[in-house]
Amino acid sequence: MPSLVLHVTGARPNFPKAAPVLAALEKRGVRQLLVHTGQHYDANMSEVFFRDLGLPAPDLNLGVGSGSHAVQTAAMMTALEETFLAERPDLVLVYGDVNSTVAAALVAAKLGIRCAHVEAGLRSFDWSMPEEVNRVVTDRLSDLLFATSADALVHLAREGVDPDRMHFVGNPMIDTLLRLRDRFDGSRVVAEVGLPDEYAVATLHRPGNVDDPAALDRLVAALRATADRIDVVLPVHPRGRERLAASGLFDHPRMHATEPLGYLEFLGLVEKSRLVVTDSGGIQEETTVLGVPCLTLRPNTERPVTITHGTNRLVTPDTLADHVDGVLDGTLAIGDQVPPLWDGAAGERIAGIVVDQL
Ligand code: UD1
Repeated sequence: MPSLVLHVTGARPNFPKAAPVLAALEKRGVRQLLVHTGQHYDANMSEVFFRDLGLPAPDLNLGVGSGSHAVQTAAMMTALEETFLAERPDLVLVYGDVNSTVAAALVAAKLGIRCAHVEAGLRSFDWSMPEEVNRVVTDRLSDLLFATSADALVHLAREGVDPDRMHFVGNPMIDTLLRLRDRFDGSRVVAEVGLPDEYAVATLHRPGNVDDPAALDRLVAALRATADRIDVVLPVHPRGRERLAASGLFDHPRMHATEPLGYLEFLGLVEKSRLVVTDSGGIQEETTVLGVPCLTLRPNTERPVTITHGTNRLVTPDTLADHVDGVLDGTLAIGDQVPPLWDGAAGERIAGIVVDQL
């Protein structure tokens, strides 16, 4: 039997990272299985991405759904163990830092199956973020570590990872962005919301921001101050939907809510926007490549290259409005470099190394 590579995905940010790796392995004739844990299940959190990205339908959807971290991770591990035992993959590929990622790495390690982590070595050094726990544990359990930026290699080396196991391959999420950029199209949303030419895009879903009522109040005030200056469109993530609605944020006449958007529509909106306000990880990277100023509502970032090279700035609720003014009047200096190897060929590099290792 030829070697089998099994990809584990589950949450929205996994899909644009997995797509180029699947395509590059397909080109090399590698036998592959795509597993979806079901962590994200709403059509506009999952299905629309498969369509937009041209991903094949998952070979298996484990239908795990939502729950507390322990409930969700345990359900994924139970279902993934059965899957790995039945399919006997030679290598499991995991992506990013979501619960699906760490669940798959744990199961692979205990079954003695080799695991490769795409987007290894990113560190916020903030243990209050579930993603930081997932990143550190996944890296510790992985045999092959694919890094998107040079700082990640430094973190892995400091944690004792053998240099032979780390590979600086670039950013596969940016492969997807560059491949599909011609098809980005936010026009439906612009028309439906009635956005003027100059607008900002906001996203908010991190537990540290939306789950704590006091933190959310401060953010809502800061977003309202932003909307005093520029129209803001905010696709609302299911986490925090009720809280945001109840906060009165959308009573502001220049603050516009939408449902979660697909990949092409969301990046179409971002590409034409004046600025982005976000607490997401991946959007910091996408705005850097698109050259759109990004104001990140977080005390830290695991993606510092977006600040040293790109368009990203960390802000607090208290400093957001000043930064928005700085972008709008052109006084805020923002980087304009694309980080090394964010060139559209990361998937090819990963596939080349995977094939060598099989
Ligand atoms: C997860 C990731 C986060 C990532 C985000 C992107 C973890 C720990 N977190 O956070 O790193 O930035 O995805 O979206 O893995 N829900 C729905 N429909 C869905 C999915 C979720 O309504 O299709 C609701 C449920 O109420 C659920 C809540 O959203 O409890 C949170 O979903 P979950 O997958 O636990 O984490 P996210 O906040 O989406």
